[in-house]
Amino acid sequence: MSGDAPTAAGSGRYYVTTPIYYVNDRPHLGHAYTMVAADVLARWKRLEGREVFFLTGTDEHGQKVQKAAEAAGMDPQAFTDDVSRHFRELTRQMTVTNDDFIRTTEPRHKQACAALWERLAEAGDIYLGHYEGWYAVRDEAFYGPDELVERSGVKYAPSGAPVEWVREPSWFFRLSAWGDRLLAFYEANPDFIAPATRRNEVLSFVRSGLQDLSISRTSFRWGVPVPRDDAHVMYVWLDALTNYITALGYPDTHDPRWHFWPADVHLVGKDILRFHTIYWPAFLMAAGLPTPRRVFAHGWWTVEGEKMSKSLGNAISPVVLAEEFGLDPLRYFLLREVPFGNDGDFSRRALIGRLNSELANDFGNLANRVLSLIAKNCEGRLPAVGETAEADRELLGPVEALPGQVAEALDRQAFHEALERVWAVVRLGNSWIDSQKPWALRKSDPVRMAAVLRNLHTALRTLATVLQPVMPGTMAAMLDQLGVGEGARSLSALASPLPEGTALPAPAPLFRKVEETAA
Ligand code: MSP
Repeated sequence: MSGDAPTAAGSGRYYVTTPIYYVNDRPHLGHAYTMVAADVLARWKRLEGREVFFLTGTDEHGQKVQKAAEAAGMDPQAFTDDVSRHFRELTRQMTVTNDDFIRTTEPRHKQACAALWERLAEAGDIYLGHYEGWYAVRDEAFYGPDELVERSGVKYAPSGAPVEWVREPSWFFRLSAWGDRLLAFYEANPDFIAPATRRNEVLSFVRSGLQDLSISRTSFRWGVPVPRDDAHVMYVWLDALTNYITALGYPDTHDPRWHFWPADVHLVGKDILRFHTIYWPAFLMAAGLPTPRRVFAHGWWTVEGEKMSKSLGNAISPVVLAEEFGLDPLRYFLLREVPFGNDGDFSRRALIGRLNSELANDFGNLANRVLSLIAKNCEGRLPAVGETAEADRELLGPVEALPGQVAEALDRQAFHEALERVWAVVRLGNSWIDSQKPWALRKSDPVRMAAVLRNLHTALRTLATVLQPVMPGTMAAMLDQLGVGEGARSLSALASPLPEGTALPAPAPLFRKVEETAA
């Protein structure tokens, strides 16, 4: 088993996860969001040269899925096979580079759940009792009476989901005994819950006292059977959370993947923070396993100001958007528009605005100006690195500092800040070319012109390199145009200048502008 020691940036392993998606619904933009965010982290860490494991998948058990299958008139397994496939397709459609796709109906997962259950039982943290209380099928969660509101005779959870009274025998996890140890754990690991505002939310919930958690159900069958008591299936959240270790081979700690545990970061939506920051570390500590390093809760997307939902019929398909605007502009927009952690509103106008002004204008123009000047004035060959003039530091200083700044922001999952940093350099590139006027140097000082263009090429190479995780397809095309071979696209390769005279292909536009009227 690997130790708990944090790994230094640029070395070691990195494990990132998305939540596993319920298969009661077709994938929408909200689902694509976490996948893309996790993909950017995974791709970035690979660029840093780390060994990465990136997991996503589907959460296929529980009453909610059983009910959805019944409503569709299908056998639950056939139903989950069908819907799970759409999520798997989404990974490809979003060019997400997950290393595995876990389904909780797989035998390997049932084994992992059973093994974890046995560890909890051996530790004395599980007992048989009786559950009586309010349950929201939609959230697959229990609520206390004081958390509910009543409207027209129906009681609702804070999430807006209706609750029903449930009374049945149940196995319990002694969560009440874990409150102090959880608080000590949060104290010792101040970065475990992010963003910081969410941390206070969790702390006050735990401080208010935890009750034992019902971890099995007898009123439906669609779940992982409880070992030695198959009248019960496991509570879907115990089942679901276990996916993060199933994929690493648990309970076989000699599995070659096991050394990825503990996860560096679980990305989750704000609605499922409690499960990941209270139940999950408590289960793991009880089972004697290391806890994840960090859980980051992102916000929710609304659409033109409204909650995205099947009933409102306004769920946005990320695939349709990618077809219309291009996948990379969509990936860029999702991470640039809203600080990760905040809620955000999706509007076509905002997407078109960023595509036109930041991608086509700021970035596209810089690339086009530099590459056309090289094509025209340097016979399409990369100029030599010239003597460094005073003015060059204005550009090259920020260019050289950029990868470190992006790394630092991404280690905080501050995608928008990383992209702001990148765009500061894009804008600097545009103003620097205006002040250096290489077109005017053509006659007066061709040596200096070549040096100016070479510096701008260096800037573009750095920009395209650091942007690969966000816009993989477009930046691969950009690096092709810059003459950077596939073996020279990592962060460390930036230290090795390309040979003078490298032939560059004819420049072609990277981003297509979209008419505002299409909004
Ligand atoms: N199956 C559980 C997670 C188990 S993880 C061990 C679940 N599934 S879900 O399909 O309902 O949600 C998956 C993720 O999508 C959650 O992180 C949720 O926050 C996110 N989103 C669902 N709708 C969303 C938006 N409208 N906007 C952003 N993210 C949203 O919860």
